[in-house]
Amino acid sequence: MNAAPVSAKQLLAKAREAADRAYAPYSNFSVGAAVLTAKGTVFTGCNVENASYGLAICAERNAIAGMVAASADDRTVRRVAVFSPNAAPCLPCGACRQVLREFGCQEVIVEEEGSVRIYRFGELLPHSFGPEALDR
Ligand code: THU
Repeated sequence: MNAAPVSAKQLLAKAREAADRAYAPYSNFSVGAAVLTAKGTVFTGCNVENASYGLAICAERNAIAGMVAASADDRTVRRVAVFSPNAAPCLPCGACRQVLREFGCQEVIVEEEGSVRIYRFGELLPHSFGPEALDR
């Protein structure tokens, strides 16, 4: 059974809550992400830093990892919301765009100028490389 539909505003609220759980003692830059799957499930993640700085993991990729770990048949991402109390808009970094691309993300939701802004994924990662490129 599918879950109740989740609005862009609700997804952004989930990302905001996740940002409260960020472990970011080195950058003091907290990020939360919430992905909505094709089946209507929401998975959240926050950034997790490390004393070995380069090992920091972004919020978006942690959300994706949670999605993959949770289910083998609910892995299509419709949209992702990203929130940081330290930057608006907080758009996904290049590495996270590529990982979101892997799972079919269509839209990126952020807070911008005090409102909910929805970007088409292709605006943020045009002419992208994906799994289909290997189908030959
Ligand atoms: N960060 C994310 O979690 N997501 C992004 O898309 C950009 C950057 C985190 C990584 C690091 O912990 C902190 O923000 C500062 O770069």
